[in-house]
Amino acid sequence: MNAFRFENATKTCFGEGCVRENLAGFLREYGENVLLTYGGGSIKKNGIYDEITAILKQEGKEVTEFSGIMANPTYAKVMEGAHLVRENHIDLILGVGGGSVMDCCKAVSLAAVYQKDAWAQFWAKPGVIDFTPVPLGVIVTVAGTGSEMNGGAVITNEETKVKTGRDYPECNPKFALLDPTYTYSVPMRQMVSGGFDILSHIMEIYFSEPNEDNVSDDIAEALMKSVIRNLRAAIKNPQDYTARSNLMWDATMAENRIIKMGKRTDFECHNMEHQLGAYTNCNHGEGLAVLHPVYYRHIYSYGLPKFVRFAVNIWNVPAEGKTDEETALAGIEALAAFIREIGLPTTLRELGMSDKSMLKEIADSCGISPGSYKQMTHEEILEIFTECF
Ligand code: NZQ
Ligand code: ZN
Repeated sequence: MNAFRFENATKTCFGEGCVRENLAGFLREYGENVLLTYGGGSIKKNGIYDEITAILKQEGKEVTEFSGIMANPTYAKVMEGAHLVRENHIDLILGVGGGSVMDCCKAVSLAAVYQKDAWAQFWAKPGVIDFTPVPLGVIVTVAGTGSEMNGGAVITNEETKVKTGRDYPECNPKFALLDPTYTYSVPMRQMVSGGFDILSHIMEIYFSEPNEDNVSDDIAEALMKSVIRNLRAAIKNPQDYTARSNLMWDATMAENRIIKMGKRTDFECHNMEHQLGAYTNCNHGEGLAVLHPVYYRHIYSYGLPKFVRFAVNIWNVPAEGKTDEETALAGIEALAAFIREIGLPTTLRELGMSDKSMLKEIADSCGISPGSYKQMTHEEILEIFTECF
C-alpha cells in the first residue's frame, strides 16, 4: 500500500430516528443563528422539514432559510448563501438534502468568510484555507455522493462552463445525521442514479494503482457487491429498510476516504461527467452510467489483471476457457447489462443530447487526471463521447 494519513472530522449518527435523537444535542454546541438550507422542497412534502424545524424551535434557534438549491449547484447560488450567512450572523449552517445541498453548503461556509472571489481561490485551482469556515452540519435525504463525510464540494461556474470539485478537510461537516427512512421518498429515478454514483466512486478508486494485495481493494469489492445487491432489493421494494440502510452507508463508505487509503485513486470518468454536466446540466449518476462501460472498454487492456479480478469477483464471470481479455470484457459487459437492468440511460441521446456538435468543446474542457491505468487525451475523450452518443 502507498503511505497515507487518514483524517475524518465528521461525527456521524446513523439509523432510524437518529435526527430526533441527536440533532438537539449537536445544535447546543453552536450559537443561536442557524441557516437552514435545502433544495427544491421535497423535504416539505415528506415531513422531514416539519421534524427538523420543530427541533430547531424547541432549541430556541433563530432560523434563516436558504432554499432552492438546484441539482448541480452553481457558484451564483453559493454567493447568494454566503451573503445570507454574513447578513444574519450565522453560527451554524444546517444542510438538509443530497449532494447538491451539502456541496453548496460547504462552498457557502468558505465563501461567507473568505469574502473575495472564492471560485478563483478554491475551485479554479486547489487553494489553502487559512481561516475557519462557518460550521456545517448535514442531514442526508438521498444516498449517493457521500458528501456527508468528506470535504468535497462540486460546484458549477455557469459563466466559465466549468463544473469541478475540491476536497478540503476543513469543509468536512462537523456532524452528519443519516436516517435511512428519510430516503424512502426519493423518486425511483433518483434512487437508481444515486446508487450508480456510489458504484462509480468505488470503481474509480478500485481501478487504480497499486494492484498488489491491499485492504482498500478488498473493502471496495465488498462495497460494490453490497451496492449491486441492495440496489436490486430497493428497486423491488423501495421501503426495504435493510436495502436503504446498506445503500446509505455504502455511499458514505465510498467517499469518507477509507477506501482511498493506500491507493492512488483516479476520477477521470467523473472529470468527463462533470463537464457533460456543466454543458448540459445532466443528472450526475445518469451521466456516469452512460460513460463508464465505454470508458472501461478504452482502458481495460492497460490494467488487465484488475479488470479480470473485477469480472470474476464482482460479476461471477467464469474465467475457465477464456483469455484474460475475454474475461475482462465479459466483466465490463456485465456492468453494462446491470446499467440496462436498473433502467439507467446508456447513450448521450437518452441523456437528452440531440446533436454532437458540442462534443469537441466539452471534451476539450475536461480535466485530465494521471489516469486509471492510462492517461486520457482530449482526442480520446472525444472518441469516448462520440461512442456514447
Ligand atoms: O431538491 P429537492 O426538492 O430536495 O429534490 C431532490 C433533487 O431533485 C431529490 N431528493 C433528495 N432527497 C429526497 C428527494 N426527493 C424526495 N425525497 C427525498 N428524501 O433528489 C434530487 C437530487 O438531489 P441532488 O442533491 O442533486 O442529488 P445527489 O445527491 O446525486 O447530488 C448531486 C450533486 O453532487 C455532486 C454532483 O456532481 C452533483 O452536483 N457530487 C458531489 C460529490 C462530493 N461532494 O463528494 C461527489 C460526487 O461524485 C458528485 O460529483
Ligand atoms: Zn459521483
